[in-house]
Amino acid sequence: MTGNHQPPRVGDIEYELGYPIPGHILPPEQWASTAVHRLPESEALDFQKLFGRQSPVVLDIGCGNGRFVVTSAVRRPEVDHLGIDILPVVIRYATRRGRQRGLHNTRFAVSGGAEFLRRYIPRGSLAEIHIYHPQPYQNPAVKHLRLLTPDFFELVHNALRPSGQLYLQSDNAAYWQYLQQSVSQLMNWQEVTTAWPDDPHGRSRREIIASSQGLPIFRSCSTRREDLSDEQISAIVRDLPPPDFAASPQRNRTGWTRASKSRPARRKRS
Ligand SMILES: C[S@@+](CC[C@H](N)C(=O)[O-])C[C@H]1O[C@@H](n2cnc3c(N)ncnc32)[C@H](O)[C@@H]1O
Repeated sequence: MTGNHQPPRVGDIEYELGYPIPGHILPPEQWASTAVHRLPESEALDFQKLFGRQSPVVLDIGCGNGRFVVTSAVRRPEVDHLGIDILPVVIRYATRRGRQRGLHNTRFAVSGGAEFLRRYIPRGSLAEIHIYHPQPYQNPAVKHLRLLTPDFFELVHNALRPSGQLYLQSDNAAYWQYLQQSVSQLMNWQEVTTAWPDDPHGRSRREIIASSQGLPIFRSCSTRREDLSDEQISAIVRDLPPPDFAASPQRNRTGWTRASKSRPARRKRS
């Protein structure tokens, strides 16, 4: 067993925030190569070449330290998993976790989500896209950094195979409202109102932290709409608003904000 600060040893189960990350640390001769150090110059990824087989491919965008990808890859060895994040340091953690568990069905790369979908994902090729807790960016000066935009939804629709699934999750109510209204135009929107049965404590690091703070967690699992032509999709995307919502600090059930635990959130006077 390891805590956060001890280097894992062979046979260990790694714990993070009090919960195990599935899989055991294997001896080095059984480790897997999980880093995509260099993305192709111009062409899309060839999944068969990348994973050495033909299997359904799942992508986690903004995968952070890789908890969801690693967990899913351990539980679904028949499925290939790609995790990407814009931050190199978290990809280093994720890559190591997949490597030391011998997860040949995982690959991790440093990339922005929109760029990755646009440049590297063949059209109609992904079985699932997962996005857990995209940053809401509460400071209006940086709201242009929000990942989930109308153009991004179009990229998601194009990347998914027929009946492909989009998993979304957030602990920010304003972001969620925006997603409900926008994504439901292109996908068969389906909210998930209970914790994930496979991981009731949380599928990702951020979900575990948000739950422990008593924040509401919003979840959905939607399937790609098949009744839309490319022209109809473009028209829907043109009409969707940009993600300009005011992302106020998240409030937990007692009305305390995440930004300040020392005072309750101010209530509007009625
Ligand atoms: C709040 S964290 C959530 C991480 C993980 N999904 C989880 O739930 O624990 C948001 C993650 O999105 C990544 N991110 C932010 N903008 C991104 C972008 N444009 N493309 C890909 N990843 C991005 C951040 O680096 C960060 O790791």
